[in-house]
This record gives sequence, structure tokens and C-alpha cells, in this order.
Amino acid sequence: MTTLVINGRQRQLDIEPETPLLWVLRDELGLTGTKFGCGIASCGACTVEIDGVATRSCVMPIQALEGKTVRTIEAEPDRIVAALQAAWLQHQVPQCGYCQSGMIMAAAGLLRSQPRPNDADIAAAITNICRCGTYQRIVAAVHSAAAALQGVPA
Ligand code: FES
Ligand code: FES
Repeated sequence: MTTLVINGRQRQLDIEPETPLLWVLRDELGLTGTKFGCGIASCGACTVEIDGVATRSCVMPIQALEGKTVRTIEAEPDRIVAALQAAWLQHQVPQCGYCQSGMIMAAAGLLRSQPRPNDADIAAAITNICRCGTYQRIVAAVHSAAAALQGVPA
């Protein structure tokens, strides 16, 4: 049995301890906003926040999460995620959209630890893959969200 908080709700999960969090989210809890891409921690499609840190859920066994707090794209947006979502709309970031929930969770993790990242910070923190090539818009949107959160012009 693993007890953790997912999107503000305490969950007790009686699941094989090695099961990756991604499959718990998608198959057990129906939280399908978190995507499967590679399954080997390379693409970032499965990114969620664990205790505020962006983490690839496809390689995170549920047994490692006892007492932890998980946020997925379905969580009620806090001010950081809300700012990112607004910036994503402003910059019309998504194309097919498949990678975008992972991108936003990666960006949220970045802004929690680094409120005004530069381009190099963003490149280092958001290593997610987008087959549609939205990278430049993502960088612009992260800068806009960071500026909005600090109340300064982008
Ligand atoms: S599915 Fe987890 S990093 Fe690709
Ligand atoms: S928007 Fe299509 S994979 Fe990123």
C-alpha cells in the first residue's frame, strides 16, 4: 500500500510497488493528461511535479512516492501553472499538443526553483522532446509567464 497526495487528494494505492507512476495515473486513476512517449525517461511527455520538482513519471516506481505530493496537468492551477497556461495561449504554443502537458509541468518545476530563467536555464531544465518543433514558442512563453509572475513587462 502506498499513500500519497495526487492533485490535492489523498490516495491509498494497493498496486505492485514497482509500477511506474505514469501507469498508476493513466490506468488506475484515469488521469490521462500525462502522456506516454518513450518509457525510458528521454522524451518528457510523462512529466509531472513531485513535491514541486518536475519528474518523469514513466520511470518513477510508485513505492518511491510514499508520503509525497504529485501534481499533474489536471491539478487545479496554482499561480505558476495559471501564468504558464495564459502564456501558452498568448504564444499559441501547442501544435498537435501531445507533448504539451509534460512541457508545462517541466516549465512549472523550473519557475518554482528559478523565477527568472534565461534561455540557457530553460534549455537546461526543459529537455522534453516536441516532434512538432514548438521549442521557440515554449521559450517565449516561459519568459512571458516569468515576467507576468513578477509583474514586469516580458
Ligand atoms: S514517456 Fe517518460 S520520458 Fe518519455
Ligand atoms: S506539440 Fe506536437 S509533439 Fe509537441
